[in-house]
Amino acid sequence: MIFSSSSVTETEKIGAELGKKLIAGSFVALYGDLGAGKTAFVRGAVSVLCENAAVCSPTYAVVNRYDGRIPVYHFDLYRINDDDDLYSTGYYDILEEKAIFFCEWCEKCPEAIPDGAIKVTITRTENGRRIEIADIIA
Ligand SMILES: Nc1ncnc2c1ncn2[C@@H]1O[C@H](COP(=O)(O)OP(=O)(O)O)[C@@H](O)[C@H]1O
Ligand SMILES: [Mg+2]
Repeated sequence: MIFSSSSVTETEKIGAELGKKLIAGSFVALYGDLGAGKTAFVRGAVSVLCENAAVCSPTYAVVNRYDGRIPVYHFDLYRINDDDDLYSTGYYDILEEKAIFFCEWCEKCPEAIPDGAIKVTITRTENGRRIEIADIIA
């Protein structure tokens, strides 16, 4: 599915629509440059999953957790250099939890993205962003 977004609010809304469809175990893999709108998309999705969660980029923390009916983990792999690095953050243990997962900068660790991940690719266009959502399992 391909969407176009001309504002950060629209990107959040597209994220929220996906958020409604997520279940425990869903893994949303986000791809796109710095400033593409990955965090904005996650903020929209998390808004329907966790009330009052303050979603910010976990660029330095690597992972944020938000409380909801199902817990949500929000990773950012920007500062991860290799799989050992990722392992030491607890990433693989966290993936065992009954939770919903968002992960920014999946380009950094392609081998770490689980099979069945929902792939969201955001690219800049002349008038905003192109948001492609792929591999949704019905
Ligand atoms: N259509 C759009 N969708 C998302 N963000 C947009 C859009 N147009 C402009 N922006 C701006 O781009 C930036 C996106 O930031 P962010 O979501 O943190 O990106 P990323 O997480 O991909 O680095 C914000 O400053 C936002 O206001
Ligand atoms: Mg971000």
